[in-house]
Amino acid sequence: MREEILERLRQEAGAFVSGGQLCNDLGVTRTTIWKQIDALRSLGYHIEAQPRLGYRLIQAPDRLYPWEIDRHLRTQRMGRTVEYHAEIGSTNDRAKALALSGCAEGTLVVGECQMQGRGRRGRGWISPFGAGIFASLVLRPPMAPREAPKMTLLSALAVKDALRAHLGVEAGIKWPNDLEMNDRKVCGILVEMGAEMDAVGYVVVGIGINVNLNVAELPAQLQGSVGSLQAEVGGPVDRAALLGAVLNEFEIGYDRVLAHGFGDVIEATRRSSTTLGRLVRVLAADGEWEGTAVDIDDDGTLVVRTLEGEVRHVHSGEVSIRPRRA
Ligand code: BTN
Repeated sequence: MREEILERLRQEAGAFVSGGQLCNDLGVTRTTIWKQIDALRSLGYHIEAQPRLGYRLIQAPDRLYPWEIDRHLRTQRMGRTVEYHAEIGSTNDRAKALALSGCAEGTLVVGECQMQGRGRRGRGWISPFGAGIFASLVLRPPMAPREAPKMTLLSALAVKDALRAHLGVEAGIKWPNDLEMNDRKVCGILVEMGAEMDAVGYVVVGIGINVNLNVAELPAQLQGSVGSLQAEVGGPVDRAALLGAVLNEFEIGYDRVLAHGFGDVIEATRRSSTTLGRLVRVLAADGEWEGTAVDIDDDGTLVVRTLEGEVRHVHSGEVSIRPRRA
């Protein structure tokens, strides 16, 4: 009901809709309409009411409410169930709990902010209220656990494609999970899995995008490396529309993977990689070493030729790109 009223107000594009018209359209009383308008206002919608004219929508709040995301979806499964939190510890933790309790594939957890946002390798993820997209998607891919790390590449590509489709900007992929623009990280992906020896039970894809983050307010040591879409495009970005675009692109890519495997994903990652051809420092369990990133293998690993000419495959771990020599 609330969403139907909102939709009717939106259809009028800022013009008034009379109370009587709303009552007729929705088959309810004026009191019901008034109560729902009141509820919408308390969610942050700016709605004007005029005695003989009715109601008009002045402004919608910048929130990732499920119905705001839904307006932008063209998916069958991804984001069709959304659990919304104004504040949460970590959306990945919540999504894992939902996965374990049997939720449907495509269930999405979103938070306006995270108090314990998690990055890879035990790091945190800066998640201030309303400044980014902090979202986790539950999947149940019928694949072997060794395939699951490639879900990171698929997710990074989905965000990259959504940035192009929705904002017309190009981001590069720093293997395996960062999206960069102008050498600054604008998105990170944390894929976590629950599995038996031979089958994936669930995969949670956690996506953190620095959308309207004010980089100037970050600690000094992050200023050079952390980016924000707002700074890149020169103005605030509609988070709900961008998240919808990410889910649309994700479902297209995921369905392709389920039908044909990861071949196209690996190929597209190679083309979009900011890592290939660069001198990299690898922080592995067995120590630190340097080499040139020469390829991304069909299994998703990064192929690096060491300074001594040995070719090594990097499965995970930390890879930092060394500055280009002047
Ligand atoms: C990284 O680059 O280290 C990965 C960052 C992933 C951050 C996202 S924000 C939504 C989801 N919930 C989390 O706690 N982390 C991921």
